Amino acid sequence: MPHITSREKPTAVNRLSPARLATSLFTTSFATRPTVAVSAPGRVNLIGEHTDYNGGPVLPVALERRTAIVARAADCWAFVSGTEPEVQRIDIDAPMRKAWTDYLVGVVRELRSRQAAPPGAEIAIATNLPIGAGLSSSAALTVAAAKALSLLAGKRLSPAALADVAFRAEYHQVGVRCGRMDQTIAAHAQRGSALLFETAAGTLHPVPFRGRLWVMETGVSHRLTGGALNERRRECEEALDFCREWRGGLSYLGQLTPADLPEVERRLPPPLVPRVRHVITETDRTRRAAEALAAGNLSQLGRLLVEGHESLRVDYESTIPEADFLVKSAAGHGAYGARLTGAGWGGAVVVLAPPEVEARLVAEVGSDFQNQYGRMPVTWSTRASGGVRRETLAI
Ligand code: GLA
Repeated sequence: MPHITSREKPTAVNRLSPARLATSLFTTSFATRPTVAVSAPGRVNLIGEHTDYNGGPVLPVALERRTAIVARAADCWAFVSGTEPEVQRIDIDAPMRKAWTDYLVGVVRELRSRQAAPPGAEIAIATNLPIGAGLSSSAALTVAAAKALSLLAGKRLSPAALADVAFRAEYHQVGVRCGRMDQTIAAHAQRGSALLFETAAGTLHPVPFRGRLWVMETGVSHRLTGGALNERRRECEEALDFCREWRGGLSYLGQLTPADLPEVERRLPPPLVPRVRHVITETDRTRRAAEALAAGNLSQLGRLLVEGHESLRVDYESTIPEADFLVKSAAGHGAYGARLTGAGWGGAVVVLAPPEVEARLVAEVGSDFQNQYGRMPVTWSTRASGGVRRETLAI
């Protein structure tokens, strides 16, 4: 059970699992019972930020917090969510509405193209993931939806197929130019392990991680569809074109190594240099971080997290002052390390700390933040959880 700070005390309602909440929302909204229940986790990325769409490695961990979808086949589409409990009746072929329902529409369209969608469905959604906190609530939703709806159509898709449907829904249908990290961890995560995902090769290496991670939310919401991620992605593509002028066969920026940095600095237009420097150094850091984790060297892992944050702050310019403040404060109070996790421009900081200092550290960082910003950061902890799964329907 994740720890919850005083700003977010569990109430009688949110102590229930998302699957139970979704089931009760379903029965009150549709006056019938669902026939399938599925849940998928959010994630924190330990390290490997903005590398997934550059062919580099990522090292995410699935959260204990999840999004649940319960559903029943029907002859039209109707969605209801715990965050906006009015039933939305949706025409899957109509233009996107620029709303959360677009993610579900995207999943349905992608499933249809694989003949794996039911003719329609009533769907209820509940989550205990914060939305807009950079913890991949969208991939939890799309991966859970892909599994629930394909089951309603009588199809059993593999984790790889579920991740692909969810990725295509977000990238091609909703139009967020994300990489494949979030959908991959939501579909493939194993309890008790982080996942080293080499995005160019498509290989997955679970790395055992039994410890606890702390998540400190900056309280600044990010909206990926707002364009910052898309803009960085364009910069990376432009940089790749420049790099190809002297490295003909280059497919991804993630193939460059620290030895290529002098050449990058010499040849690229100055504004693109720090973006590429981030990708190169982060690719190298992420592989070293996976080695440190596998060797149980958490001090070394923590140092790499802090270096990774600095690289995001200075070179990728995707951090915000609240996150910089939390990272500095956590490091100052004895954390192994901390960094902004997820796309950035808001969101949450992940903190890795020795168990014996955790309680004191979280209190001290919280009070530093309160003094600076006049509010406590919402803070909770998690261990590495498992990926998408079918849930038993509560009677
Ligand atoms: C978002 C995207 C991911 C990844 C991260 C940045 O979460 O969905 O694919 O690019 O940003 O590392």
